[in-house]
Amino acid sequence: MTAIREGRVVIVGSGLIGRSWAMVFASGGYQVKLYDIVQEQVTTALENIRKQMKELEEIGMLKGTLNAEQQLSLISGCTDLKAAVEGAIYIQECTPENLELKKKIFGQLDLIVSNNVILSSSTSCLLPTKLFTGLKHVKQCIVAHPVNPPYYVPLVELVPHPETDPCTLEKTYALMKKIGQSPVRLTKEIDGFVLNRLQYAIISEAWRLVGDGIISPVDLDLVMSDGLGMRYAFMGPLETMHLNAEGMLNYCERYREGIIRVLKSFGPIPEFTGVAEEKINTAMCEETPADSEHLNDRRCWRDNCLVRLAKLKKEIKSD
Ligand code: NAI
Repeated sequence: MTAIREGRVVIVGSGLIGRSWAMVFASGGYQVKLYDIVQEQVTTALENIRKQMKELEEIGMLKGTLNAEQQLSLISGCTDLKAAVEGAIYIQECTPENLELKKKIFGQLDLIVSNNVILSSSTSCLLPTKLFTGLKHVKQCIVAHPVNPPYYVPLVELVPHPETDPCTLEKTYALMKKIGQSPVRLTKEIDGFVLNRLQYAIISEAWRLVGDGIISPVDLDLVMSDGLGMRYAFMGPLETMHLNAEGMLNYCERYREGIIRVLKSFGPIPEFTGVAEEKINTAMCEETPADSEHLNDRRCWRDNCLVRLAKLKKEIKSD
């Protein structure tokens, strides 16, 4: 049973990702201070979290072993940064993806935090050297990049700054495990981290195939959702190789030549503009018009699918 744990976590920025992190930490039994510069934003965030947790509880998908009221009692809002970080063990920054803004916030935190707290950023693509270089507490700094929505998609990429203390990485890794996330460690920073590098490789070839008229946009998406994606929800590309022959060495022996031949036929990096953009946009808008109502409906459908997939993965793990 998840006990209520010692130590407080601070979430800086109560938008989409900040709210989700707050819920994940509370589900793991941690006290959470949700900080934002705008009081109204904090109030809305707390209301939204209450609504989400109650709904999750009703459908049996609330994370952790504490009930919704117990988890909600662990989360409180705050608009005073100094008071928020007092005594905190971990700070997860979730402000808009803007380098100058994030540098300013980490600069402010650097002046008021102790030598024990971990300072972590949710940034999707800003490198740790851009965010943390020059900070007095750089050893305590790390990027913990979640996947949207973190409540249902547990992966977190941990990316250290060259001066990050190995202890910071290990402690963050352990903390992520404790709250039920699935952390991965990068040994050093790289543009796009790992998830987006893989995603961009797929987007790039998808774009070329549609742009070259080999396949329609809708069929291209089916190749992923009804093909590759079916197994990628349970195992990665490397294990897939291992199982698709008599082990990895046999796979390479059988397929390396073919893989290299096909890879050499890949075209240049697409511009993501022009005729291909128009064609792909038209096809996407036919399925889901790009207005907020339709996009939100489809996002709700996607999140609902993710909830059910998360449930299935949980059942499979406990088999
Ligand atoms: P958002 O725009 O929904 O929320 C940002 C929040 O930060 C707002 O509540 C805003 O009031 C607050 N804020 C602005 N300035 C602040 C300050 N000085 N101090 C405290 N709070 C402040 O943004 P979102 O989508 O939640 O993204 C947050 C971070 O998470 C970004 O770095 C983003 O790249 C990253 N991320 C986003 C993902 C996504 O799909 N939305 C996925 C993974 C990471």
